[in-house]
Amino acid sequence: MTVDPSHVIIAIDGPAASGKSSVARALARKLRYVYINTGAMYRAVTWHAVEQQVPTLEPDKVVALLADTHIVCGLSQMESTITINGIDPTPFLSEEAVNRNVSNIATVPEVRRLLVPLQREYLADHDIVMEGRDIGSAVFPETPYKFYIDASAEVRALRRARQGLQDSIVARDKIDSTRRASPLIIAEDAHVIDSSNLTVEGVVGEIFGRLKQKGLPLGEL
Ligand code: DC
Repeated sequence: MTVDPSHVIIAIDGPAASGKSSVARALARKLRYVYINTGAMYRAVTWHAVEQQVPTLEPDKVVALLADTHIVCGLSQMESTITINGIDPTPFLSEEAVNRNVSNIATVPEVRRLLVPLQREYLADHDIVMEGRDIGSAVFPETPYKFYIDASAEVRALRRARQGLQDSIVARDKIDSTRRASPLIIAEDAHVIDSSNLTVEGVVGEIFGRLKQKGLPLGEL
């Protein structure tokens, strides 16, 4: 797949609770780019599977569910939106059942084959900041702008706890990094940032500096 040179894609990958969502959103606002949260897409499919009582450890049943699943990805106020069979699942995407099952769903190659083209479509009309696990390694491997945001396991657990969310991030990271289909890896040419002791603004500042260094035209910003 060739990246459309008329639009810019900034890939932000990293493990659970590394702070990448806050960073990606803040960066997109600063640049006036569109912010795309691909984790929300895997979460939306997971929510649907849980709702339909499909066992997420049984790929055949997950694949059968996909045949009756109509996904529409869009944009609202410069951020990605999603509906599943006409329903917006956004309020439910951080539920414990979704956290518990989402990594299983993300291992199913057919799920990825369904979602990745929808992710790539955003680039046709927009400059984007896209966050996930495989954006720099599999979705847009040709982009020169790749970042991997990390943080210590302790800091990440603390961040989730502060959000009041139940999320077994260590278990999720293990599944995400060891699955066969597009696992979470640090792309060879990604710039790695440890956000353990940095604020969101600090991480965005570092990314900004790097983008300038790489020659991305940033205008008046
Ligand atoms: O970023 P997040 O925690 O909302 O992502 C939820 C899960 O979705 C994550 O545990 C793995 C999966 N995911 C993925 O496999 N590929 C992506 N590009 C984004 C998320």
